[in-house]
Amino acid sequence: MRVPALLLALLSVLAPASADEIASGSTFLSPELRRRQGDPNRNPAWFWVDQGKELFAEKPATGQACLGCHADPAASLRGAATHYPQVDRPSGKLLNLESRIEQCRVERQRQPAFGYESAELLSLTAYVASLSRGLPMSVRTDGPARPFYEAGQAFFERRQGQLNLSCKQCHDGLVGQKLRGDTISHGAGTGYPAYRLEWNTVGSLHRRLRACSLGVRATQFDYGSPEYLALELYLAGRAEGLPVETPAMRR
Ligand code: HEC
Ligand code: HEC
Repeated sequence: MRVPALLLALLSVLAPASADEIASGSTFLSPELRRRQGDPNRNPAWFWVDQGKELFAEKPATGQACLGCHADPAASLRGAATHYPQVDRPSGKLLNLESRIEQCRVERQRQPAFGYESAELLSLTAYVASLSRGLPMSVRTDGPARPFYEAGQAFFERRQGQLNLSCKQCHDGLVGQKLRGDTISHGAGTGYPAYRLEWNTVGSLHRRLRACSLGVRATQFDYGSPEYLALELYLAGRAEGLPVETPAMRR
């Protein structure tokens, strides 16, 4: 039965990475930081979640509060974050959770966008994502999402920057190795927005991606850029089945 054996071997090479192989970033934290992350009184990111919850209920100058349309968010928005990034219909644009919230802000509340990395957007995103804590990531990578996913994968595998390193070389090849005091993880990114000690505040996944781009002296793309959105979709697809851990803590 040589052919089936070969087929099986091939399949295991071609199969997308699953949660069996990919561990969350929290797995690679020091025990002390992991304890701190798990204690709401010592994890400062919960402050952003609480702010987000308040903002969610606040009535803007015009239009309704988020809560006005999304009643009982703990139930109605539970699981929402597990499906982002996703392709918006009918625009065909790839939206992450931040861009979906901005879309509601601009189109439904008729208010100016908050802007990436604003305290408001970080808080609302952390709050909405926290409503999916413990639920498995489950993004669409087929159909209209496919080209974005493939662009993200190509980005992940391409060598870049003065150091000529791909994301994959670190977040696949060097997992578990130490780098400047960090232990390299799979780059799952399932805990964002996260409180990072180095930032002394909460930041988005794209802020983390910018740090990695800088680390290899490569182009840093803008927050919300098509490049990072595609990359985010690829990372989310790779993290399929891993629980949402927002709000996480990182070094
Ligand atoms: C006027 C009503 C309205 C307001 C105000 C509003 N939204 Fe929405 N929101 C919607 C509708 C309608 C959808 C699309 C629901 C769908 O079909 O998935 C949506 C979708 C969303 C989603 C995606 C849900 C999912 O399952 O994919 C999130 C997250 C969200 N809104 C957050 C917010 C936040 C945060 C605010 C306040 C800044 C807000 N919304 C304000 C009506 C509103
Ligand atoms: C030189 C090695 C290196 C390269 C190349 C690199 N990173 Fe990282 N990355 C790190 C280190 C170190 C950390 C912090 C520890 C950790 O969580 O892995 C990190 C963290 C991350 C995280 C946060 C994971 C989490 O759950 O907190 C993501 C996501 C990530 N990287 C994605 C990328 C992407 C996408 C690329 C390619 C653009 C990339 N990285 C390139 C070393 C690298």
